Amino acid sequence: MAAVQEYQVAPGAEVQGEATVPGDKSISHRALMLGGIATGDTRIRGFLASEDCLATLSALAALGVHIERPEPTRVIVHGAGAGGLHASASPLDMGNAGTAMRLSMGLLAGQPFASTLIGDGSLMRRPMERVAAPLRQMGAQITTHEGRPPVLLQGGRRLQGIDYTMPMASAQVKSAVLLAGLAAQGRTRVTEPAPTRDHTERMLAAFGVHVERAGASASLEGGQTLIGTDIEVPADFSSAAFFLVAGALAAPQGLRLRNVGVNPTRTGLLQMLQLMGAQISVHAHGSVQGVGEPIADIEVRASRLRGIEVPESLVPLSIDEFPVFFIAAACAEGETVVRGAAELRVKESDRLAVMAEGLKSLGVEHTLLPDGIRIRGGQGFSGGTVDSHGDHRIAMAFTMASLRASGPIRILDVANVATSFPGFVQLAQAVGIRIAAA
Ligand code: S3P
Repeated sequence: MAAVQEYQVAPGAEVQGEATVPGDKSISHRALMLGGIATGDTRIRGFLASEDCLATLSALAALGVHIERPEPTRVIVHGAGAGGLHASASPLDMGNAGTAMRLSMGLLAGQPFASTLIGDGSLMRRPMERVAAPLRQMGAQITTHEGRPPVLLQGGRRLQGIDYTMPMASAQVKSAVLLAGLAAQGRTRVTEPAPTRDHTERMLAAFGVHVERAGASASLEGGQTLIGTDIEVPADFSSAAFFLVAGALAAPQGLRLRNVGVNPTRTGLLQMLQLMGAQISVHAHGSVQGVGEPIADIEVRASRLRGIEVPESLVPLSIDEFPVFFIAAACAEGETVVRGAAELRVKESDRLAVMAEGLKSLGVEHTLLPDGIRIRGGQGFSGGTVDSHGDHRIAMAFTMASLRASGPIRILDVANVATSFPGFVQLAQAVGIRIAAA
């Protein structure tokens, strides 16, 4: 089947009903990696069967981990144990997945063999020194190409624990350093400038690793053994986000998202939408098995939204949700201002620039800032054509713009939606969005 290249979305639909989005991407990557270096088996349910997570799965298989997948979303990882990985015969291709590449750098830096990491056109342009630098401080030998992939890890070095304060709020950097710390001598401590997603810390604990968390720091002692475990992956909040905004814009009867992961380090978008006046209720129902990740059903109903100044403290807690938040902002009366979000420029695309270009194509007044954007909302969208530049979240965000558009919207270069959200088109159709894929 040829990959889908574009979406055509008819304007003015209403959404309603219930939806369950696929499993969490961050948690699926981590479950595979920790399972791979654990002793014993790890059984994963609700695994995200997307291209990004399958890149991690293939990389681990190339490193000698035996993995079974009896169903698309059920995975059994037969852990290779701490010293059980071996060199891959060819470079490890991480596709579009920044998490796969950066966390693998941490996982592989202390191995006795060399590895080369590559990816697709987008990933080959993304910064890797933010991970390479602290790993070098630990004693790893790593080269990048002007800061970008290919990443060459020499291996064969005994790593030393470090005390590292990150210059940016990045869960990928934090996770890579902690994973390298597992193979290091002594204690490794990472301090973050602002809270970021803590799935690695939670999952390490589920594998029996003692992780100490104190204020803005997480630390662990090297040499601890991971024990395989059972993991249930919650539905991905970042995928639910598209439908939360859809509901806030166009669900007069309400829309319910089921079993969504609501780890507080991920749910900044809920607060941002509530500040805008969105009607959202969160029905918590405990934690999923294994990883101590809270889940909830989230219900959202259409209401009038008003523009806000986004508190900078919420930026890292909603970092992947800005594309769709900008769509909500374009529908909110008055001005919305986002600052302190320069990290958006180094995601799968430069999300500030690409979103600004798309907003312009659909007639939304805005000013692009070096670290954010000002959006004058309230007029909705014209019809038109938007180029997602191969960025999955931008393609899905502009799908939601159709709900408040005056004409059809065409979205180009959408094949990468498969990196994070298999079945997006079908789910969007099921709740009422008039989307066709071509
Ligand atoms: C992720 C961390 C974030 C996020 C990415 C997934 C993770 O990246 O944008 O989609 O799984 O750790 P940064 O660490 O670069 O902020």
